Amino acid sequence: MALLSRKLLIPLLGLVLALYFYSGGDEFKPELLKGKRIIVTGASSGIGEQMAYHLAQMGSHVLITARREEKLKKVVAKCLELGAPSAHYIAGSMDDMVFAKSVVKKAEKLFGGLDMLILNHMGDSYYNFFNGKVDHVRKLMEINYLSFVTMTVEAFPMLKSTNGSIVVVSSIAGKIGQAFVVPYSATKFALDGFFSSLRQEFILKNVNISITLCILSLINTDTAVNAVGDVLRMPAAPQEECALEIIKGGALRLREVYYKYELTKIPILFRDWVPELLDSIMRSGFIVENLKNDSSLFS
Ligand SMILES: NC(=O)c1ccc[n+]([C@@H]2O[C@H](COP(=O)([O-])OP(=O)(O)OC[C@H]3O[C@@H](n4cnc5c(N)ncnc54)[C@H](OP(=O)(O)O)[C@@H]3O)[C@@H](O)[C@H]2O)c1
Ligand SMILES: *[C@@H]1O[C@H](CO)[C@@H](O)[C@H](O)[C@H]1NC(C)=O
Ligand SMILES: *[C@@H]1O[C@H](CO)[C@@H](O)[C@H](O)[C@H]1NC(C)=O
Ligand SMILES: *[C@@H]1O[C@H](CO)[C@@H](O)[C@H](O)[C@H]1NC(C)=O
Repeated sequence: MALLSRKLLIPLLGLVLALYFYSGGDEFKPELLKGKRIIVTGASSGIGEQMAYHLAQMGSHVLITARREEKLKKVVAKCLELGAPSAHYIAGSMDDMVFAKSVVKKAEKLFGGLDMLILNHMGDSYYNFFNGKVDHVRKLMEINYLSFVTMTVEAFPMLKSTNGSIVVVSSIAGKIGQAFVVPYSATKFALDGFFSSLRQEFILKNVNISITLCILSLINTDTAVNAVGDVLRMPAAPQEECALEIIKGGALRLREVYYKYELTKIPILFRDWVPELLDSIMRSGFIVENLKNDSSLFS
């Protein structure tokens, strides 16, 4: 009886607390973003592209970046059509820290300041058992993690003077270990460690820069849908709505954004309480036979 009530009470308490924190806080208004100067990385496709369009509609100045110049040009043109007071791009790869810095420098030149840094890009990886390629792990760490750190350092003076915001796009795989995305998951956990620690130091130093870590479940971008294919039979949430929720969270200076809430916040509540149960539920969601060629280290 005592055990049962403990098993029920704790998750219930967790749920109530979660709902309390979720519903609390200010109301979002698009005017919060009007005239704001914003960098969006990884904006040539997917969630980043959709964020650029939302921001354009809300009247933000946007500087977008990714590697594919042709795609960036089109996104910039559409941003201007949608009403962005200004929209620019800079093309390059985030495995190069000199380029990562130059994106922030370009924002400084164009806008004379920065209100929000949205770090969203991710490098190409594979969806399969860990293949043992350490060079790939290092490369992905540089793209998904080190460039985020580099841009944050470079943007710090501007963000400090505007009381600006840093928005970090992460994943449920950055909170709970996931099969088939071992190197990717590691990069996302690294972001949590860095930015959650940095947030503590900002508060200790009275630096009024908000840090919003975004925990996403499966989203219907081409990259994600192609990667998981038939292995993960799970509905993918819409990228347009996802992009809006990230922007709202950043504008409201939330600590974390959970989207979809029930597929991220709830599993995380269970993570430290019944980890084996949670892991086995996660494993049962996979159809392992549907993995493409397995070049596993463990074969
Ligand atoms: N979709 C999901 O299910 C899901 C779930 C959880 C978290 N997320 C996170 O959401 C974010 C966006 O993902 P998405 O699904 O929208 O994927 P996506 O459409 O593939 O977007 C990735 C972006 O990053 C850019 N990029 C890739 N490699 C790069 C490099 N070396 N240097 C600079 N830019 C690079 C890509 O553009 P170029 O190829 O032109 O460089 C693209 O604009 C990622 O941080 C991802 O981890 C997504
Ligand atoms: C921090 O900056 C935000 C955005 O400018 C502002 O709304 C908030 O009041 C500031 N916080 C403090 C403690 O002054
Ligand atoms: C930034 O926040 C500080 C409090 O941390 C506040 O005193 C200051 O007025 C704010 N500055 C601007 C430009 O909003
Ligand atoms: C999978 O592996 C087999 C044998 O190793 C090979 O013949 C086939 O082309 C591979 N398929 C793909 C899609 O890579």
